Formats: sequence, C-alpha cells, structure tokens
Amino acid sequence: MNFNILTIFPEIFEILNVGVISKSIDKKMISINTFDIRKNSINKHNHIDSKPYGGGEGMVMMAEPIVKTLSEVNKRKLGKVIYLSPQGKKLTQKKVVSFANKKNITLICGRYEGIDQRVIDKYVDEEISIGDFILSGGEYAAICLIDAVSRHIPGVLGNKDSYLKDTFSDGLLKGHLYTKPEIFESMQVPNVLLSGNHKEIEKWKIQNSLLQTLAKRPDLLDKKKLSKKQKKLLEELTSKAIL
Ligand SMILES: C[S@@+](CC[C@H](N)C(=O)[O-])C[C@H]1O[C@@H](n2cnc3c(N)ncnc32)[C@H](O)[C@@H]1O
Repeated sequence: MNFNILTIFPEIFEILNVGVISKSIDKKMISINTFDIRKNSINKHNHIDSKPYGGGEGMVMMAEPIVKTLSEVNKRKLGKVIYLSPQGKKLTQKKVVSFANKKNITLICGRYEGIDQRVIDKYVDEEISIGDFILSGGEYAAICLIDAVSRHIPGVLGNKDSYLKDTFSDGLLKGHLYTKPEIFESMQVPNVLLSGNHKEIEKWKIQNSLLQTLAKRPDLLDKKKLSKKQKKLLEELTSKAIL
C-alpha cells in the first residue's frame, strides 16, 4: 500500500521509521512518500500561507502550492485524497478497514487555520478527523491513520489474529491481559488463565471482554448484535452481579 503525504514538515514522518511500520516499509509492504508543500511556494520568501479573506485570526494555507504539490504525485498513485481535518468524519475502526483495501491514499496535512476551501471542494475525496479536539497540524492525524490502516495490511503484523481480535474489531473491547509473573505486588493472575482448561479460558475471555465493554463503553453494547453465546454469557454475568 502506498501513502502520499503533502506536508510542510516532512521530517515529522521520520517517526514512522520504528517498529512494525518500519519493518513493513523495509519489506516493501508499505511505502510512504512525503511531498513538501513549501517547495511549491509561490514567492521568493517561501510563503505558502496568507491572511484570510474577510479578516479573522491566523493564516490560511494557499491553494496553489497545495495543488502544485498534488500534481507531483504520480496520477496512477494518487488514489483516495484525504484532508485531515477536525471537521471531517471520525476515523473509526470500520473506516480504517475500508482504507486498508485501497492501493493508494494521499493525505493532505493542514497547518495554521487550515487550507483554502477551494482545494477541498475540487481535489479532496474525504475529510477525516481523529477526534473532537484541535491539533496544531494534520501530520499527527496522518500518522495515526497510517499506523492504524497499516495494521490491517496482510503481512504487516506477524500474527493476523492480533488485529482480528483487537478492541473494536468485533464491536467490543478486548478483555484484561496478564503476563509473567503469576503474582505481582500481591496481585494474582485470575486462576482460570493458569488452569490449562481451554474451554474455560475461552469463556473467561469472552465474558471479560463483555464486562469491560459494559463497564467502560456501554454505548458499544447498544450498537452490537451479540451472538447467542455472547448473549448467554452476558446474562450469566449480569445475573451474578445482581445476586
Ligand atoms: C490548528 S488546526 C486548524 C483548525 C481550524 N482553524 C478549525 O477551527 O477547524 C490546523 C490543522 O491541523 C489539522 N487538524 C487539527 N485537528 C485535527 C483533528 N482533530 N483531526 C484531523 N486533523 C486535524 C488540520 O489539518 C488543520 O488544518
């Protein structure tokens, strides 16, 4: 999968040169190409921004440097053009999975007050937000998107079950996790996980996942269509809680 990134700070993306993403780049499963918008500034002072028409605070990134930079991306490799924006649709696991099916994605990172609306109107396929808060630049949102999408590209994670069983993948939170030692600061790993009884362990995992979802994100349970088994285990849990 190929990501094209339009930014005035290409160096920020060096952060992707670690961990699984870096390995996937080395193995050519992912390619990340940054395009420096400032190289297409339209004056000798390297300006890519200007004051907003009609007045108002801050500066706006001008259309021309962005569109010129966009034209540097090989047309065949442009793919879906996304503008990272707090006004966009929220990035969800569902969206992440749909993006992972694309061959090419082009990400436009805004700075200052944002980019000239005419770029969005003519060149952007979708605006994507990573949450209801304001970042100082789209680069951080782009990094989140790239990382989340890359996990779903076959071969990127050693164990494909990792992403299939992640929180949100089937609409629930993943349950509690434990590793060595069995006792840490007088806290014991739940006995069932040490029992070797695979059926009971599986049941505990499903129940713990349901319990965490109920406690931390009940809104997810409202949306989720539980399987018969999940329903039965949830009922078992809630009746125990009442007793
Ligand atoms: C300081 S913000 C501009 C915010 C803009 N003035 C507004 O009120 O909507 C600068 C850039 O950061 C990026 N950005 C900020 N918050 C974001 C979010 N929640 N998700 C995605 N991108 C975001 C966008 O690319 C935006 O152009």
